[in-house]
Amino acid sequence: MTEPAERDSQPGKEPKPYQEALDLIAEELYQQLRRDLDDAYDPDLDDYIREQVKKRVERDLGTEMDLRLKRARRRLRAEVERGLKKERKRRKMAAAPERGRSLVRFNRHFRAQHLALFTSVIILIITGLPMKFSHLGISGFVVNLLGGIENDRILHRTGATILIGVALYHLGYTLFHPQGRSDFFLLLPRLKDAWDALLNVLYFLGITRERPRFDRFSYMEKFDYWAVYWGCVIMIGSGLILWFPNTALQWIPKFAVDTVKEAHSDEALLATLALVIWHFYNVHFNPDRFPGTLLWWHGRISEKEIKEEHPLEYERIIPEPSELLPGSADPSPQADAE
Ligand code: HEM
Repeated sequence: MTEPAERDSQPGKEPKPYQEALDLIAEELYQQLRRDLDDAYDPDLDDYIREQVKKRVERDLGTEMDLRLKRARRRLRAEVERGLKKERKRRKMAAAPERGRSLVRFNRHFRAQHLALFTSVIILIITGLPMKFSHLGISGFVVNLLGGIENDRILHRTGATILIGVALYHLGYTLFHPQGRSDFFLLLPRLKDAWDALLNVLYFLGITRERPRFDRFSYMEKFDYWAVYWGCVIMIGSGLILWFPNTALQWIPKFAVDTVKEAHSDEALLATLALVIWHFYNVHFNPDRFPGTLLWWHGRISEKEIKEEHPLEYERIIPEPSELLPGSADPSPQADAE
């Protein structure tokens, strides 16, 4: 049987820090084996039998010892690694208390609505604009890619159905969900927004060194929200009239239907440009954000970012340590908290 000291010199020796613990276990098991062996010696047996018994006991207990050691080694390794990981995280957070800590900004209802909204809008733009600019070569290319104009029209209506679904969901959310209600009130325009916008312009021009301090939603985010709100009302209202013209004609004159078609078409272009210029700048091309944030996906904002971008909200909510999650970008089940 191998002594613990010999086993140490074998290849595959465990790295610190759990080698010492393993040595202790090995030593303990070895002593136990010695005791068991001594018990196995029966002074009444003759030498040959005693030798056989000794060999047998050594073999059986040796196997058992190896098994137990392997199990202990696995358990210890997992335990030590867990401890080390925790310690590394703790040290990192102690060194930079704000980095790597985050809190939930957008719950799962919000994220689901945003996901469905941009999916539907992308479908609507890709299928709608080729109808508006049918004379352009690129429109023919896109329509062919989609399998022809009939497919394009079906896809446009599919996108429209998703958008209507999101709009209804959002209405329900703002009416019945506490977070939806509170966000809706915080999104209402206030005098402070105009002042913030002015202050920001002065700041960008270098006239003042003071930056506006935002609450949960800045005037830019409010503008984004209300532009989409208004856009949805116009696009869904006019789109439904285009979708069911005969029904509409029972209520409104022909020239109104024609006007609605024009409004739908022009608002579509406006919405596309607003999205590409305003929204993409704010969330992607802005140097502070480039190339973009995954906030819409995991819903979390880092403590550092909320302090900088929404200081008034931060001061209002001052999160409990338990609300702060380690890491700022990984999707976490806790981000799903309502
Ligand atoms: C962001 C949202 C949307 C965009 C960008 C968009 C874009 C467009 C564009 C550019 C056209 C072509 C207009 C033209 O020929 O000048 C169009 C047509 C149309 N849109 Fe939309 N649209 C949107 C939302 C909707 C919605 C919500 C509905 C329905 C509720 C809808 C229903 C229609 C219908 C029925 C047509 C006529 C298509 C046809 O001739 O078969 N659209 N849309």
